[in-house]
Amino acid sequence: MDWQSKRVLVTGGAGFIGSHLSAKLLELGADVTVLDDSQAGDSAKVLSGANFIEGCIADSATRSSALEGVDAVFHLAAIASVPLCEEEPERSDMVNRQASLDILLEANCPVIFASSAAIYGEPVTIPINENHPLAPVGHYGKQKVVVDEAICSLDESSNPATALRFFNVFGRGQDPSSQYSGVLSIFIDRATSNRPITIIGDGEQTRDFIHVSDVIAALIICGQSLLEQGTASPAHGESFNVCTGQPVTLNQVVKVIEDCIEHKLDIVYDEAREGDIKHSSGDSTKLQQNFDWSPNFTLSEGISDLISHSN
Ligand code: NAD
Ligand code: UD1
Repeated sequence: MDWQSKRVLVTGGAGFIGSHLSAKLLELGADVTVLDDSQAGDSAKVLSGANFIEGCIADSATRSSALEGVDAVFHLAAIASVPLCEEEPERSDMVNRQASLDILLEANCPVIFASSAAIYGEPVTIPINENHPLAPVGHYGKQKVVVDEAICSLDESSNPATALRFFNVFGRGQDPSSQYSGVLSIFIDRATSNRPITIIGDGEQTRDFIHVSDVIAALIICGQSLLEQGTASPAHGESFNVCTGQPVTLNQVVKVIEDCIEHKLDIVYDEAREGDIKHSSGDSTKLQQNFDWSPNFTLSEGISDLISHSN
């Protein structure tokens, strides 16, 4: 498919995943507009080739001007931190649930939504496939599940849309600077500057870490399918896990980092946190069977890439 003539809106395009996605779309020739309020993102990450609307997705006038005339929306803007959503449930409800439902309703073109593995809650069976019960434990997962379920209940008469359930995404450009950042970005930042890391809980929790380049490939492939086939696309009204199926404990992550930097990390253990799930391990068969997609990066390749690019 030719992205050259396509006008694409990326909400959250100043953030970690959104900035990688915008770069890929620009490379493919799309006309990219980023809508981001820069709360967690960084306006410096918006590439010069993209148009930038600095604003909030919860503001209806901002939304309608951003949505005007676009051919596809990648909706990634959200408060992405599980503990921050626990601290600010009202704000995160407005952004992660209500504004997302509004975008789904108001867009007149395909919508590709960044859903999350958090909607499954504590797994009953592992690995988790898309038929696993949805039983989120915290505000973040409870807000995401409403939007995901709205997409999964669409029929042929609705606007084309899909929900990609990302597991734990990592890679270059993930901001390590706050306590709300993704765990791998924090660990690598601390490890490469000789500072102690904090493991919340006993470190035996598992996560399925998926490299951002594999996530971008999934976003593009599903966006393309919706643009080409509309509601006849296998993506329409469906959700797909985006994961490796290779879960690791945080204690194992530490070992991979230590092997890479060739010295031991200084580790502090802290109390488990509210809304945190213990285990997460996904099955991406559905995405692989419907599309030409499979994960390419292993965790250790991704970690050594991050370490070699740290400054
Ligand atoms: P991020 O925090 O780096 O990016 C989110 C972006 O959304 C930020 O740039 C932020 O400024 C913007 N934003 C937040 N509230 C906004 C608002 N009200 N209006 C406009 N912009 C707003 O997070 P990320 O890791 O890039 O996550 C992107 C999406 O993927 C999110 O929807 C997140 O929930 C989802 N997701 C992420 C992961 C992961 O592991 N990183 C996993 C599953 C799902
Ligand atoms: C992450 C994403 C969330 C996504 C979900 C999907 C971020 C910030 N969060 O949530 O958007 O929907 O995956 O599965 O990208 N931890 C430590 N030490 C630290 C920081 C964290 O031990 O310094 C622990 C946490 O308690 C948790 C694990 O690491 O058990 C992962 O935490 P985090 O990176 O915040 O991700 P999730 O909560 O899994």
